Parts: sequence; C-alpha cells; structure tokens
Amino acid sequence: EKVVLAYSGGVDTSVCIPYLKHEWGVEEVITLAADLGQGDELEPIRVKALDAGAAESLVMDATERFVTDYVFPAIQANALYEDRYPLCTALGRPLIAKLLVEAAEKYGADAVVHGCTAKGNDQVRFDVAIAALNPALKVLAPAREWGMSREETIAYGEKYGVPSPVKKSSPYSIDKNLMGRSVEAGPLEDPWVEPLEEVYEMTQAIADAPDEPAYVEIGFTQGNPTRLNGEALAPIELVTQLNQIVGQHGVGRIDMVENRLVGIKSREIYEAPGLLVLIQAHQDLESLVLTKDVTHYKKGLEQTYTQLVYNGLWYSPLKEAIDAFIQQTQQQVTGTVRVKLFKGTAVVVGRKSEQSLYTPTLATYGSDDTFDHKAAEGFIYVWGLPTRVWSQKTR
Ligand code: ARG
Ligand code: SIN
Repeated sequence: EKVVLAYSGGVDTSVCIPYLKHEWGVEEVITLAADLGQGDELEPIRVKALDAGAAESLVMDATERFVTDYVFPAIQANALYEDRYPLCTALGRPLIAKLLVEAAEKYGADAVVHGCTAKGNDQVRFDVAIAALNPALKVLAPAREWGMSREETIAYGEKYGVPSPVKKSSPYSIDKNLMGRSVEAGPLEDPWVEPLEEVYEMTQAIADAPDEPAYVEIGFTQGNPTRLNGEALAPIELVTQLNQIVGQHGVGRIDMVENRLVGIKSREIYEAPGLLVLIQAHQDLESLVLTKDVTHYKKGLEQTYTQLVYNGLWYSPLKEAIDAFIQQTQQQVTGTVRVKLFKGTAVVVGRKSEQSLYTPTLATYGSDDTFDHKAAEGFIYVWGLPTRVWSQKTR
C-alpha cells in the first residue's frame, strides 16, 4: 500500500510516518508539505520527513494559488464565521486536500493521510474535500485513532528516528499561513484568561502601536484587491505589505469562543490583520456600487457561504452555485477604499468608484437637489396603505 501524507514537520505528522509503516503495514509513505506562506523553512521539513522514513518528500509552493483561488473569493463573500473569524485556517484546507489528491493520482497512491484529531473541524474539511475531489481515494487519520498522549507520541517517534521537539514544546496548538494565525489550547482553554502577549506574532500590542495614525488606500478590481496606496501589486505582495502595516497598528486580533461543526465550543485566538481589513474595505466598497436589493440578498448568501466553507463543503454544489452569484455581483466592485489605522482600530474613512451608484444630486440637501419632493407623498401613501388598512380594521 502506498499513501500520500499531509506533512507539516511537527511531531504528530512526523510520527504518522513510522506509525503508518509499523502499525498499519503501509509500504510507502510519500509526504507532502504545502507552503501557504506560513514562513517556515521548508528544506529542513523536507529532510525531516525522509529521516522519519518517508519514501519521497514533496514540498509544494501553493501560496499564490492560496491567495488568488481561495482567499480572494472569500473576501468577495465578506466571509466572517460567527461574524468574526475570517476563516484563515479553513480556507487553506481545501487547497491542501487538492494538492494531496493531485499527488496521490500522480504517484498512484491508494490513500491520503492527514494528522488531524477527532475533535476538530479540520478533519472534516480534509475528509470531505478529498471525497469530493476523488471519491475512490481512501482517507486515513492515524492521530484520530491512535489514542496516544503528547508524551507517548513523542516517545513513539523517538523509537523510530523522529527527534523530540528541541525547545520545550509550546503549550499552544497553532495553525498559520500567509493570511493569519489560529491559536488554541494551553492557557487559552480557560475562556476567562486573557491571552499572553506571546500568543501574537503578526500584530503589535495596542500600547506599542504608533502614536500617529496611518492611512492605507486599497484598490479593488472586480472584487479582487489589486492596489495598495496607488501602486499595483501582485496578490502575495499586496497581502504581505498590508499585514505588516495593519499589524503594526495593533489591528487584527480576535479572541472568541466559537462553535465547531462537531458541536464543541472552543476558545480561539486569531490574528489576521490584512485579511480583516480587506474584508472591511471590500464590504464598504460594495455599499457604494451594488444596488440595495443585491446587497441585502447577498448578505444571506454570504452567511451560507461562510458556513459551507467552515464546515468543510468548499467543493460542493451549493458552494459552487453561490460562487456564481457572487462572481456576477463582483463585476461592479472596482474602486478604492481609504482606511485609517490607529491604536488597534481600522476605520473606513473614504471610498470612491467609477461604478459608484451614489448620486450627489439625489443625496444632497443643497440647492442642486434633483429629487422630486412631490413624489414622496404618493410613494408613502402606497407604501403605508396595507398598514393603514390593518390599523382601521384592528383599532
Ligand atoms: N477553529 C479554527 C477553524 O476551525 C482554527 C483551527 C486551527 N487549528 C489550530 N490548531 N489552531 O478553522
Ligand atoms: C484539530 O483538532 O485538528 C485542530 C482544530 C480544528 O480542526 O478545529
């Protein structure tokens, strides 16, 4: 039996390699480490997999694909799970699943393996995405079944050449990529306990943020962020620069208790400076260029979209249908939004667009007003008619 294993270089996925071979009789383990811009050095990770017994160790740079094919569509959907979490982890899973399936097909593997636990969302996202992309592939999840504690896992690995973590291992469980970091466990398990500053990497504490505000101008082209402060930038470059500026001003931290698909409540810390500001700016631009009915209708679909993505249904018929709707609406979403960053706050203070539906001569209270004031009375008579009839009947 030959398998492709999603590999991060951490203890759990490293231990999966000997575990699959010695406990489950897998002959050949091919590892795949996906680079989604998490900033880890990949060459040591590649070698580490081979040292732990992998037959082949693949490293895929997927950062560009991640940003353009997974993150940008979610920005267009203004996707915030439970109104707060911008899905930075959830968006990477369907892409990693796709890379795994592509590798499994190329190398003729029988199964795909991931290291997720039984209590999380990520296992669902991998299992369902893989099933959607190739229902003939088996999915194995050793860490869901092996029942080893942290110490036992490390000890098991040491028997087979997986070095135990050099530093005293962090109490946190962290997932990161170019768009953000998700941190849970350790002291964070008590939702009353304030996170220590050590939890954060991409954002500065408000107390250390600059005393002067900064302005960023974000340009969108058909819903995709394309310019920063007037300069056209490729997606990775734009996000990288924006993360830096926004994080410096202490914007982008989220501390929340969220509802997982499996029914568990978990306390999560997120930081996603650039992504949060991109969603905020995008949504604001939409308020300028979309009609009232499209905006209101889209809001309901955004909620459904966000739940589908969170719940592992990235590749699904409903998600695809909503994508088509959103894509259609984004044809108008071209313009620029100005955001003011100051001491942990990001506020949109200006927006403009060639496609703007904002009509000064209708909005103004000045003398160049073109609104037909006489029309209001008739409109209100008709609008209020059902209420008038109802009131006469019931009072
Ligand atoms: N709860 C978030 C999600 O479901 C993040 C999970 C990320 N994993 C972690 N080890 N912190 O998308
Ligand atoms: C895990 O349990 O694998 C991480 C957390 C999650 O998937 O929600």
